[in-house]
Amino acid sequence: MSGFDADWLAQRERFDLAARSRPLANAFAEALMRRRAAHTSPLRLADLGGGTAANFRALAPRLGGDQHWVLLDFDQQLLDQVPVRIAGWACAQGWDAVESAGGCQVQAGPARWRIETQQIDLAASLEALDARRFDGIVTTAFLDLVSNHWLARFARWLVDANRPLLATLTVDGRRSWHPEAIDDELIDRAFRTHQGGDKGFGQSVGPGAGAALADCLRALACPVALADSDWQIGGDADSAMLDRMADEAVAVALEVDRLAGDRLARWRQTRTAQIASGQARLIIGHVDLLATPGQPSSLDSLRETLAPSAR
Ligand SMILES: C[S@@+](CC[C@H](N)C(=O)[O-])C[C@H]1O[C@@H](n2cnc3c(N)ncnc32)[C@H](O)[C@@H]1O
Repeated sequence: MSGFDADWLAQRERFDLAARSRPLANAFAEALMRRRAAHTSPLRLADLGGGTAANFRALAPRLGGDQHWVLLDFDQQLLDQVPVRIAGWACAQGWDAVESAGGCQVQAGPARWRIETQQIDLAASLEALDARRFDGIVTTAFLDLVSNHWLARFARWLVDANRPLLATLTVDGRRSWHPEAIDDELIDRAFRTHQGGDKGFGQSVGPGAGAALADCLRALACPVALADSDWQIGGDADSAMLDRMADEAVAVALEVDRLAGDRLARWRQTRTAQIASGQARLIIGHVDLLATPGQPSSLDSLRETLAPSAR
């Protein structure tokens, strides 16, 4: 078990979906097509830290054609939920799905998508995975868990295999509540302190992971593009998510500063009132990263599309 709750992954999926960078997803699809121009077999994708397959649900319809996904995760309990969650999703889209032990097959119009799951500890066993088995690598909401050392290994693994990567929804440390309230800074500081802990990969890079991976890849002469993919949470329909974020903020701040209880209780009361009246909004900064090893000019046209927010 990794400690990630399937209901939490389901709650965040809608916000992830809205936040993802479309230009980067399109450029990833183009990079895959360039690599595969001569192939007719299904597109093969590996999803690192795949959880309950949110990345598959976001990307499969966008990439189109026949696909074969391998979802790699440490947490067997999350992987066990993949077939039923994909089947429910496919059914809601009007597609057919057949569940099997450890996987699922979706018939989406003319396209057939096969999904299999594989338990693996990516901290220990990244290099045991042969990236060349896949046309491309994806990962979402995963990189902020890892260490600087693991990012360097990951960059080397990717560049040696010459495979494109789309890494979405990595938190980047920006987090702003609106309207402002007393002790927002206390909450923000605690959050940043908390993010640096060990999540099974050694001291985690936390909010610097997107930029740190970009540096590792560029050091290996790999083209990289970054784009903001921020969660925008606000309005009546989002009150459950805002409450969850406010509760989490208080719990994290209390872990960091046990003496701040009264101030945090006041902060929570203010947010409770603002959430109830539909006033509260929260932006949580994330970044998407596209890497295209071995395709030197593949990102040139993207730079203009992404300006000015691209880094
Ligand atoms: C924030 S969740 C994201 C899950 C999924 N990508 C999504 O967006 O819904 C992080 C995922 O990383 C997985 N994970 C954490 N440590 C891991 C490890 N050492 N090896 C493989 N997966 C790991 C967790 O089990 C979890 O599914």
